[in-house]
Amino acid sequence: MTDDRDRPLHAPRAAAAGGPGLFVTFEGGDGAGKTTQASLLDDWLRDRGRDVVRTREPGGTDVGVRIREIVLHHRGHIDPRAEALLYAADRAHHVETVVRPAIARGDVVIQDRYLDSSVAYQGAGRVLDADDVRALSLWATDGLLPDLTVLLDLDPAAARRRLDADDKPFDRLEAEKEDFHTRVRTAFLTLAAAEPERFLVLDATQPAEALAQRVRDAVAARLG
Ligand code: TYD
Repeated sequence: MTDDRDRPLHAPRAAAAGGPGLFVTFEGGDGAGKTTQASLLDDWLRDRGRDVVRTREPGGTDVGVRIREIVLHHRGHIDPRAEALLYAADRAHHVETVVRPAIARGDVVIQDRYLDSSVAYQGAGRVLDADDVRALSLWATDGLLPDLTVLLDLDPAAARRRLDADDKPFDRLEAEKEDFHTRVRTAFLTLAAAEPERFLVLDATQPAEALAQRVRDAVAARLG
């Protein structure tokens, strides 16, 4: 076996948590329905007596809430490397203080967004290399990958119609142009194709209950 210390920084080890718990992440563009599906899964697991930790990035800790405020609501430009580091800093603290302890207790962690969002969004600006962004997150989290990642795939034009129907003001990323969101979508699909065992890709235009059933089946299979 290779000693992890021999690996260069650009090739950190990556592994699912391997604890008694389970780490499930939801990914997709803004407006794809991640929060709805995370809630439905949460209810289903609690009905079955599982302890669940619902969390999100950015902003799953007190430190993270402050980072979230900067990355989503800072007025004006943030240098792309600085932005990637802010998301990675949020992730490092969150994984160490919330996610790993929960998995070690045997809980199911249901999380809105994780490192795939960094690769898709920070990589989609065309400034940063996707492999660098992924390596940064893997370093930040000491290589933690989810047991299951549900990708809710939605055409950006349809997503925009859903967001327009909401009254909430747009954050910095939601306000990006449509071609940016198209690159984000393509990046997510490319990530999913590279790791078919980790990803469950769902068509987000399907009814919520049908999607929830697919998610439950994938989670049940991993809970054994
Ligand atoms: P999210 O919390 O899903 O926003 P909302 O509650 O408004 O749906 O995500 C916030 C934004 O942060 C989203 O546009 C994607 C972006 N993001 C990144 O760019 N990189 C990251 O690593 C993460 C986790 C999120």
